Amino acid sequence: MRHALYDELVPFYRLLDATEDHEDEVAQFVAVLDGALGPSESRRSLLELGAGAGNNAFYARERFDCTLVDLSEPMLSLSRALNPACEHVVGDLRTVRLGRTFDAVLVHDAICYMLTEEDLAAAARTAFAHLRAGGAALFVPDCVRESFFEHTDDHAADAVDGTRGLRMIEWMWDPDPSDTTYTVDYAFLLKDASGVRAVHDRHIEGLFSVETWRRILSDAGFRVEIVGRSLGDLGDATPYTDSMFLAVK
Ligand SMILES: C[S@@+](CC[C@H](N)C(=O)[O-])C[C@H]1O[C@@H](n2cnc3c(N)ncnc32)[C@H](O)[C@@H]1O
Repeated sequence: MRHALYDELVPFYRLLDATEDHEDEVAQFVAVLDGALGPSESRRSLLELGAGAGNNAFYARERFDCTLVDLSEPMLSLSRALNPACEHVVGDLRTVRLGRTFDAVLVHDAICYMLTEEDLAAAARTAFAHLRAGGAALFVPDCVRESFFEHTDDHAADAVDGTRGLRMIEWMWDPDPSDTTYTVDYAFLLKDASGVRAVHDRHIEGLFSVETWRRILSDAGFRVEIVGRSLGDLGDATPYTDSMFLAVK
């Protein structure tokens, strides 16, 4: 499914998702992966699947040599500017095969685009295929079936150089609670040199119970652990799960 946010709206992406907002969260991801991998004298390698604009890698690269995969070339171009020393690869996290293994795999919010159990299983197989024995994957969905609730959120930001502005309302809702998806409708007002325009961008995202997550990762061959996630400011109003899925090969 094509998303305007990761395509023609990429010039506005940094206004929606600031790199500095990721620092605390990435510190948690790195601590969990370090804990699973144990002490090491040398730098480790990390493959991020669905790395988007590279906000996680910007902080993770202090500890890991990062390879970043994403479906969207425009999103990867944002990341290339932020993380010029990282390797970037266009690919689908369900099917990409780089032909080598890493110490760690991170799959953050891009995992939300896995809409069926088969999608999720394919993502698990990709992570497994890219890990050395003893390597660790961390899956961090925005929410799980148990934490989801209908919700709206809003955001406003202007570029410091005055060239662009963004106003956004996001509506998360679940038209059919019996299936494995929910809907996120974004309404954007976007201002640039051409004036102000409105864009509606609909994202269908996957929703799975903790038990489904555990089963699918186990079936892929992983030893699975559910680890706590500190939500900080995110926890107040948004349906973020307080769980991450650590999967050790
Ligand atoms: C919310 S953005 C990721 C943002 C990222 N966490 C960051 O901080 O920059 C979601 C990303 O998932 C990517 N994506 C969606 N489906 C994908 C797939 N099947 N394979 C790889 N990437 C995918 C999109 O292109 C988008 O860049």
